[in-house]
Amino acid sequence: MKKITAIVCCIAIFTCSLAQTKSTEKIIYKDAKATIDQRIGDLLKRMTIEEKAGQLNQLNGGLFTGPAANDAGQKTKMQQVRDGKVGSFLNVLGAKETKAVQKIAVEESRLGIPILFGFDVIHGYRTIFPIPLAEACSWDLKQAEINSSIAAKEASSAGINWTFAPMCDITNDPRWGRIMEGIGEDPYYGSLLSAARVKGLQGNLNDVEHILACVKHFAAYGAVEAGREYNQVDVSRVQLWNKYLPPYKAAVDAGAATVMNSFNVFEGVPASGNKYLVTDILLNKWKFKGFVVSDWASFGEQINHGYAADRKDAALKAIQAGSMMDMESKVIIDYLPQLVKEGKISVAQVDKAVARILYYKFKLGLFDDPYKFSNEERESKTLFTEANRNEAKKAARSSIVLLKNNNNVLPLTSSSKKVALIGYYAKSKDDMFDFWIGNGTADNAITIYDGLKNKLGESAISYAQGYNADATTNEKLINDAVQSANNADVVLVNIGISGKMAGEDRALANPVIPEGQVQLLKALQKTGKPIVAIVTAGRPLILTQINDLVSSIAYCWILGTETGNAIADVVTGAYNPSAKTVVSFPYAVGQIPVYYNHFNTNRPTPTDDFGNWYSRYRDIPNDPLYPFGFGLSYTTYKYSDLRLSSNTISKTDKLNVKITVSNTGKVDGEEVVQLYIRDITASIVRPVKELKAFQKIFLKAGETKELSFTLTGKDLSFYDADGNIKLEAGAFRIFVGSNSRDVLEQNFTLK
Ligand code: GLC
Repeated sequence: MKKITAIVCCIAIFTCSLAQTKSTEKIIYKDAKATIDQRIGDLLKRMTIEEKAGQLNQLNGGLFTGPAANDAGQKTKMQQVRDGKVGSFLNVLGAKETKAVQKIAVEESRLGIPILFGFDVIHGYRTIFPIPLAEACSWDLKQAEINSSIAAKEASSAGINWTFAPMCDITNDPRWGRIMEGIGEDPYYGSLLSAARVKGLQGNLNDVEHILACVKHFAAYGAVEAGREYNQVDVSRVQLWNKYLPPYKAAVDAGAATVMNSFNVFEGVPASGNKYLVTDILLNKWKFKGFVVSDWASFGEQINHGYAADRKDAALKAIQAGSMMDMESKVIIDYLPQLVKEGKISVAQVDKAVARILYYKFKLGLFDDPYKFSNEERESKTLFTEANRNEAKKAARSSIVLLKNNNNVLPLTSSSKKVALIGYYAKSKDDMFDFWIGNGTADNAITIYDGLKNKLGESAISYAQGYNADATTNEKLINDAVQSANNADVVLVNIGISGKMAGEDRALANPVIPEGQVQLLKALQKTGKPIVAIVTAGRPLILTQINDLVSSIAYCWILGTETGNAIADVVTGAYNPSAKTVVSFPYAVGQIPVYYNHFNTNRPTPTDDFGNWYSRYRDIPNDPLYPFGFGLSYTTYKYSDLRLSSNTISKTDKLNVKITVSNTGKVDGEEVVQLYIRDITASIVRPVKELKAFQKIFLKAGETKELSFTLTGKDLSFYDADGNIKLEAGAFRIFVGSNSRDVLEQNFTLK
């Protein structure tokens, strides 16, 4: 008996001491003094394969931004959190709401790994800024960075620590609803803008006011055929490298934490399962150190593409390609453990992906202070402040492109005492915003009517609806509008399409001014009054039908919370418009895609009168109605004296380009001076123009400035089909001007 007692005592002592060592054993991943790598290494050792799959699993926790395929209820999702099967949520919004979910993850799961909360903060969280396409037209990279930093500050106060932005898709197709979300048609400017947006969103990630950025949609999603959402993409590797990839790379080089797979195929393979895109280019060539997240259900949708046989095969193909986190298709959480057990995916491969996600959870400080982003007091103090709204107004004013202004009808002068404002949308808060309204609300938006009333006073404005919510019109609406016009000195007509038709799954085969509005303008033109078209839309509409019906066109895109105040500042001259369009305005739908950086073809159309056998249409001009880089001001500018530091340079020389620009008008203004090149002959044909530099300058009325640009071999290079940079001797041309059409030019030779 004594012997048994002795053994039991020994076991008891051993167990106690084991427990003691265990309790005194340092849990390194919880030790804030350990390095992130040490903490990741320790945590990975402790995780089961199911828990590792959980870190690669992102679920929707709120509003739907994709198909709600077999969406589990909240209760089930929270149990999955307890079971360590969810690493991230999207669309859970608010300090209180995110804290509630984080508490379950941190306090009720085995290892207490915190959750990443993602959301589409595309152009603002609660204070809504101009859509990215409009913001791009400001050519103000600093303002773009500020806009993104305010969006991040607001979002981070509401529990969000990751946004699915910036969208870096180059596109030439106004039929595509998501043209509003990107960077326009130029890779050079799009690259600078994408990097600025990443910097604004992320800062250095060492504070609680910045959030993870996400470069999307990788890659070439802007090339969807016929502008149809989710459609196929078929671009060459030469176009991939020279036109589509540069903005993604610039955003990655700017330190973006995450990249999102696009929905489309490249070379017949869905991006989620495309090894060439994800592993060869992103991970190996670009040395991307962050993590890759799928677009909504895109892992599982490889089945629809006809690339994966079933959900298990979809999981396998995504991981094999180098993709990592699965947004909402649940194939990873359902099949990864089994694929590892079957030896089809190695633990090492899983660990590499999981480590990248854990890195950012540590970097954000979520392990040491899981609720740092979920502070209700900070949230209430941060959202929708006057300072934020002022920046939004500044951003909006500088995004408005003045396309036409015959007889200087704008800005309104004291002689235009009575203003007729016509248009249903001018008073419609609901139609002001696009799909990506973030956590903003139309309620606190300033309509065009509100903005003009704030500026001019209610008595100066006579309003008429002009057309219905669906842009149709009728005799009564037209007659009322004509009467309003007849009693006014100047007529402002808000035309365009509702903001509801901008964003994802909003492709339009006819991106034109609605017929009802054309009828309305024809009737108003008969009054003989000066007519200003204030166009609002999330895309460049075909304006040809109305171009000659109005004296002025102010293209206002979708400008966000401060729309009305910004437009009022421009039409009254409180702000002299300085924006330049970053997308071409097609002359006709049939001309799409039309863009400035096109190839010359074997039979380019001569500018003079020409006979037959040239690359042209028989019914419309080749040129767009308004070209890339175009935008007017209330003043005028004169370009002169373009000169180069040399007419022949070597590949290691720098070329200095000087231009003189004068403000020849009566008001101060800002001008975006643009520099383009053309590589006349190369081993791969090059576009007739490529933007390579710009300067946004301020010139007082009558002031002249000499500007200087410096070009290096890098600016004259291009990519071959394998992504190698090529710099080839030969003839080059330099163009400098106020847009991609009206330029001065000089030739030089690269030896
Ligand atoms: C959508 C979009 C993507 C967005 C994601 C989450 O389908 O394609 O841009 O970030 O789903 O909302």
